[in-house]
Amino acid sequence: MSKRTFRIWRGSKDGGEFKTYTAKVDPGMVVLDVLHRIQADEANDLALRWNCKAGKCGSCSMEINGKPKLSCMTRMNSFGPDETITCQPLKTFPVIKDLVTDVSWNYEQNKRIRPFKPRPREQDGTHRMYQEDVDRVQEFRKCIECYLCQDVCHVIRDRDQKGAFVGPRFMIRLASLEMHPLDTEDRIPEIRKEYGSGLCNITRCCTEVCPEHIGITDNGIIPLKERVVDRYYDPIAAIGRRLFGIRRRTKTHAEEKKEA
Ligand code: SF4
Ligand code: SF4
Ligand code: FES
Repeated sequence: MSKRTFRIWRGSKDGGEFKTYTAKVDPGMVVLDVLHRIQADEANDLALRWNCKAGKCGSCSMEINGKPKLSCMTRMNSFGPDETITCQPLKTFPVIKDLVTDVSWNYEQNKRIRPFKPRPREQDGTHRMYQEDVDRVQEFRKCIECYLCQDVCHVIRDRDQKGAFVGPRFMIRLASLEMHPLDTEDRIPEIRKEYGSGLCNITRCCTEVCPEHIGITDNGIIPLKERVVDRYYDPIAAIGRRLFGIRRRTKTHAEEKKEA
């Protein structure tokens, strides 16, 4: 057992400050365990969110030593022996109390996205899909909605473009719908205009912090940006659409391969 120093931001939307705590740390503990010990022993009114303690509910997001992380997946032995551990709320969202922020803006973005609309079933009552198409969208469905990517994205965090860009989490939700082999909706116009795909400049900061290791930028955002470019900035494709009415839905992986 060792003793470690924690600096924890305490306050509300009206302001606050860092307070210092010293806690005993047992082998195998994660940051969330130590926060619970501090809550039990020294600061009964410390507010923090958690549910699963297994990296699956996305509730315990905070900034630990300046980096967006899940506190339940941040092991104490990942810090130097004398390092002070600083915990503060996600900077991008308004503070409610201590380490708890109001992430409801994200739910509002989700509501803006047109939902899945499958094509009709085939005559035998089935929905057939290529496995490779299923695999491609499966990655995006691993999202636990921790919003660490939304927190770190500089378009939302530093430039405060909350109204103009839905953020990386919702770009991959859009990718999961646009690349779904059964979906019939066309969201490319909104992706360009309302959801602000052009504001992402592919820094990949979102991908780096994702605890589910989703290829947010390379597998989700870049393919969506390419579809926007194909639609709006490729003159040959535009003429083809005008002359032949080429369908506007995003192609599946299997369709792309067939055409290659
Ligand atoms: S890659 Fe795009 S979405 Fe991700 S953090 Fe950078 S600007 Fe934001
Ligand atoms: S994409 Fe990754 S970082 Fe973003 S909300 Fe989902 S799990 Fe969290
Ligand atoms: S408590 Fe569920 S992800 Fe950390």
